[in-house]
Amino acid sequence: GALHAASQAQPNIALVKYWGKRDTVLNLPAVGSISITLDSLWTRTEVRFVPGQKHDQVSLNGRSDEAESRRITACLDLLRQRAGVDYGAEVSSQNNFPTAAGLASSASGFAALVHAGAQALGLTLSLAEQSVLARRCSGSAARSIFGGYVEWAHGKLADGTDSVASPLLDAQAWPLRVAVAITSKAAKQVGSSEGMRRTAQTSPYQSAWVDTQEADLDTARAAILARDFDALAQISEYSCLKMHALAMAAQPGLLYWNGATVECMHRVRALRQQGVPVFFTVDAGPQLKAVCAPAAIEQVKDALRDIPGVLDVLDTGLGEGARAMPAG
Ligand code: DP6
Repeated sequence: GALHAASQAQPNIALVKYWGKRDTVLNLPAVGSISITLDSLWTRTEVRFVPGQKHDQVSLNGRSDEAESRRITACLDLLRQRAGVDYGAEVSSQNNFPTAAGLASSASGFAALVHAGAQALGLTLSLAEQSVLARRCSGSAARSIFGGYVEWAHGKLADGTDSVASPLLDAQAWPLRVAVAITSKAAKQVGSSEGMRRTAQTSPYQSAWVDTQEADLDTARAAILARDFDALAQISEYSCLKMHALAMAAQPGLLYWNGATVECMHRVRALRQQGVPVFFTVDAGPQLKAVCAPAAIEQVKDALRDIPGVLDVLDTGLGEGARAMPAG
């Protein structure tokens, strides 16, 4: 092959959350999860393998970052193993959204990296195989291989080959919109992997979380297939608050919210009480994502923008999975 390729992938937002691992080496989740893939936020990644080159050279938004480079090399190693090569790579990746702001840049980043790297090495991998590889690099990246509404299965096999994402419903089949309220631009306090480890070791609610997830997945899957907004709103807020309650009960407690995050939650609920089809979700950071019907997006954005401590409000629809881009 040309040893050179580029791909784009978008972040996804979990509605039924992934939190906890049953295997940290294969990165297998303690629970299944369901997400939506976004469209106007993206990561574009170009990978060039160079025979004879020993090390990887990584540029993220024009900068180098040691911790991120190590994760990228570990991910490229999985692809090199598959292809039976040992070439170093030049990786250049751009996000069009703030990386440290808790917007799941690892999901779009590793989905784009696996997609581009596999292409560059001439590996013909199915989307499911790409999802498995992306999962090993960052769990949530397994979901960004696909577009629209996506479920990532817990899986039963010890080797993790059945812990893979698959599409539930196309983006166009139910084109909800998402407003993202940015309430802090600081890098996140405790990363997801470390937060999950601490939670599993110390939170007394861990087993209740794992035991109740299957029912939540059934409820959310049914709501999505029926395009039942109210049902999806209820189960999504429930899963989000349950994940945070679980993490807050760790020692020391993981408190990802700031005051504005909580204000946004109340505002979203007040809007819903007034009949506006909108619900919230929050990941391992202080940003609030408000998911709404297309007709409600301007009203939701205006309401969030009004809240003291909200620095910016982004807006996006639902989009496609990872795909090839022209390589420069
Ligand atoms: C709160 O996928 O970032 O966003 O597998 O350790 O890389 P690793 O974790 P990551 O965790 C995402 C956690 C979450 C919930 C979710 O996306 O389901």
